[in-house]
Order: sequence, then structure tokens, then C-alpha cells
Amino acid sequence: MAVVAKPQSKNKRVAEFLASPRKMLINGQWVASASGKTFAAINPATGEELVQVAEGDKADIDKAVAAARKAFDSGPWRKMRPNERTKLLWKLSELVLANADALAEIESLDNGKPFTIARAVDVAGTAEQFQYMAGWATKIDGRTMTLSTPGTFGYTLREPVGVCGQIIPWNFPLMMAAWKLAPALAAGNCVILKPAEQTPLSALMLGELIMEAGFPAGVVNIVPGYGETAGAALSGHKDVNKVAFTGSTEVGKIIMKAASGNLKKVTLELGGKAPNVVFSDADLGAATAGAAMAIFFNQGQVCCAGSRLYVEKKSFDTVVGGLCDAAKNMKIAPGMDPTCQIGPLVSDEQLTRVAGFVERGKKAGATALVGGEPVGGGGYFYKPTVLTNVKHDMEVVRDEIFGPVVVASPFDDLDELARQANDTPYGLSAGIWTSDIKKAHSLAGKLQAGTVWINCYNVFDPHLPFGGYKESGLGREMGPEVMEHYTQVKAVVVGGM
Ligand code: NAI
Ligand code: MG
Repeated sequence: MAVVAKPQSKNKRVAEFLASPRKMLINGQWVASASGKTFAAINPATGEELVQVAEGDKADIDKAVAAARKAFDSGPWRKMRPNERTKLLWKLSELVLANADALAEIESLDNGKPFTIARAVDVAGTAEQFQYMAGWATKIDGRTMTLSTPGTFGYTLREPVGVCGQIIPWNFPLMMAAWKLAPALAAGNCVILKPAEQTPLSALMLGELIMEAGFPAGVVNIVPGYGETAGAALSGHKDVNKVAFTGSTEVGKIIMKAASGNLKKVTLELGGKAPNVVFSDADLGAATAGAAMAIFFNQGQVCCAGSRLYVEKKSFDTVVGGLCDAAKNMKIAPGMDPTCQIGPLVSDEQLTRVAGFVERGKKAGATALVGGEPVGGGGYFYKPTVLTNVKHDMEVVRDEIFGPVVVASPFDDLDELARQANDTPYGLSAGIWTSDIKKAHSLAGKLQAGTVWINCYNVFDPHLPFGGYKESGLGREMGPEVMEHYTQVKAVVVGGM
């Protein structure tokens, strides 16, 4: 593997951030890990170390939980008026935008994604999330009821859940932090956030902005570390009231078990194997471009990626041919290259994983029309790949690959198509391309998925709930729906009236 010189950033904030080991945020202070241990943040474009990061484990999680507990039970946060929380969240969104270049560069260096995308999607989406949720802080309310027992009157209070553990993945490190932090804080909770070990940096830079915005000490604690140590300690902690997780379905199940010790509230956003369905009556140009974006965006490392493409038989060659052209023409480069369209995968491990899936798929009879192999040389780059001649029971059709790899199959019967599309333990998202509105809405109703996109793909909005059917998750992020998961209801009954 080629080792190149450490990137010298022209951005002052980035240069300073990478100049010394990064600490963790506990009780408003930047501290080393209790063990003194650190781990390396790696640049996936080169395999080179970016900076050392404090490695949290159980002892650090204990400290962070104690700080969050204290902030929730007796700190100024609990007494703060809702519009003060609004102002803090809005201030944070402004700081995110003021530091957009630095955040995007850190995200690109640590995750591999194109800087231009990090700036336009991840950073912009982060700011929007804090802005939308800033509005929610002043809109949480209860109900009043006339009760049937004479002389009584009832009302409900919607209160924060308390101390929340939030465990996030490496594919959208900053945006996943925002999706989790924003609603929790809007509702008045305190948080311990554990970023993924592959991508701890942007959450730590966000932590600096959280402190700059003026959130009280202990309200947000950020503890980087590994899943089996820090993550397990957080999801099993007796003093944590809720755990929210995004990542693999496998770890989601482990977290649910760990949370059962004290019956924490659990929300999970897990894997997917989304069907993306193109009918012959669709605008085939738009559908082809949409199918490419649906799978290649973020190097395919997207839980809702359109990884199973179903094209009506008579248009199969046209659409798949166009998709292959798109795949061949994508510029593969380090994320900081302004022409980059496909960056490296996040890690050596992910590259091996993706390559393994495709190798086994080819052995099972699939054909790689384009791609089908790593780029080679330095960095964890994998070629955008289109697999055909696939059968429904093949591993590449059934399992989440989480790389730039799509399996394409023809269909000619709508009922059979719907059956195949739903024949998966996953149910996160789906896409439909057609100009026939009857067909579109009929299929949207049949697909078992938390999100269905019609004539578009990967459209997100803080006002839209996002989450999975079946083994793709539990609960919803964003939208009014997420507020249900960060609040709990108290019924108050007044007698003697
Ligand atoms: P993962 O599920 O192991 O990691 C996600 C987060 O969970 C990280 O912060 C990790 O430290 C934490 N974690 C891991 N084990 C834990 C445990 N026992 N207790 C508590 N926290 C734990 O995902 P991984 O291994 O990085 O990727 C494997 C596959 O998972 C990918 O190939 C992809 O298929 C899927 N994945 C799905 C994501 C999604 O957005 N739904 C995101 C990342 C991965
Ligand atoms: Mg893992």
C-alpha cells in the first residue's frame, strides 16, 4: 500500500485539529481516555494515519454517563426554557455553516467521501437538521381530558426521556450525529454520543462547536472508541434511559439485548437491500441516472442504497446499458480531489468485505458487466460494479453489500416483482420509476419499506420520518415521529374538583 505524505490542510481549523491528538468531550471538558489509550484515524484514500484519537472504554463511558446524569437531574439544562434550547440549536446550525469547509474536509479525509458532496449534502443536511429540530423545542405539548370519574380532571405532560446513549456509524458520520443529537436536545435530554471507530473526527469537531454554541457542561458528551468496548458499555449501562443506534442489523440485535438489562427505550436504524423498480413507461433517462445515483452515491455505503435494480424486461438492456456507461464514466479519486465522484471505501476491512461478496457472486454465476474488482494501488478504492445473471437466492441479491455494487434483474409480472422485492428480511426503502400514477401508488402500497421514492431517490428531509420495516429497524428518525422517541408521557390526574 502506498503511503503518501500526511495532507497539509490550507484550512486553519483543519490544520490545527489534525496537529495534536484528539481528546474526548466529557462534562464540558476535553479529556484523555482514563486508560491513556489512543487509536488512529485513518485516511482511506491513502491508508495513512490522520491523527490519534482518545480511545474510550467502560471507564470513560461511566464518567460520561455520570456527567450526563448530573446535567439532566440537577444542571441548568433542566430548568432552561424551551426557546433557550431553540436558540442554542439554531446557534449550533450557524456555527456548522460558518465552519462548513472545515467540517467537510474532515469528513472527506476521515470517511473518504468527495469533499464537494460532504459540503453540499452532509454539512448542509447537518445544519438543516439542527434548524428543523430547533423549532420542535417550543412545540412539545400534552393533552387535557375530561375524565369519567366524578370530581377528576386529567392532563398529560410530555417530558424528556433522560440520559440517551447514541451509537452511530461511519457512512455519514456528521449527519448521523446531527440526526441523533438534534431531536434529543430539542426535547431536553442529555446525551453520550459514540462515533464509529472508523470515523471519529467530524463528531469531535462538532463537539467543539457544541461547546462554542454554549450548551451547558454534561448535556452532550462525546466518547470515541470501539463498539465491543465503549459501545457495549453504553448500551448496557444501568443509568442510561434510552439507546439509539444506526449500523448493522447484527449489532442492532446485540444492542437490543444489552438494553434489556434496565429496559432502555431502544430505537434502531439498520441495514437494507432496497429494490429499485424501473417500468418501461418511465422517463428512462431519468430512471437510469436515478438508478446510478441510488447505488453509487457515497460509494454505495448507504443503508437505503438501491442495491437491487429490477427493470421491466423490454427496457432491461437500455437501462442497464446506460447504468454501465454511468459506472464506467465516474471519476474515481481521493475525496479531496475536486473532480472526485467516487472516493475510497471507508476502510481496508470494508474493501475486503465488498470484494469478497463480488468474488463469491461471480463464482455463483453472476456476471460483472462493469467493475467487479478493487481499483488497486494505494487506498481502499473499489470500482462501481453492475452484476447481472443473478438469481434471487444468491448471496449478492440477498445480503447487504454496502459498496458500489448493484444487482440488476429483469421482470415482466408485477405481482411476481412485488413478491421478490419483499422477499427479504430488510425493509428500509424502495424506489419506483414510472409515468403511470396508478401503478406507482399501487406498488408503493405493496412494498414493505419505511420509505418509498417515486421518480426520485435518496431524497431526505428533516420533516420526513426515516426508518425501517421488518429487520431494518425500530422507530423512526426525523419528522414529528422522532419526538415520540425522545419524550415520554406522564398522565396527571387531579381529584377533588
Ligand atoms: P457496526 O454495526 O459494527 O458499527 C456501527 C456502530 O456500532 C459503530 O459505532 C460501532 O462501534 C458500534 N458497535 C459495534 N459493535 C457494537 C456492540 N457490540 N455494542 C455496541 N456498539 C457496537 O457496522 P460495521 O461493522 O462497521 O459494518 C458492517 C456492516 O454493517 C456494513 O458492511 C453494512 O452492511 C452495515 N452497516 C450499516 C449501516 C447503516 O447505516 N445501516 C452503517 C454501517 C454499517
Ligand atoms: Mg463492526
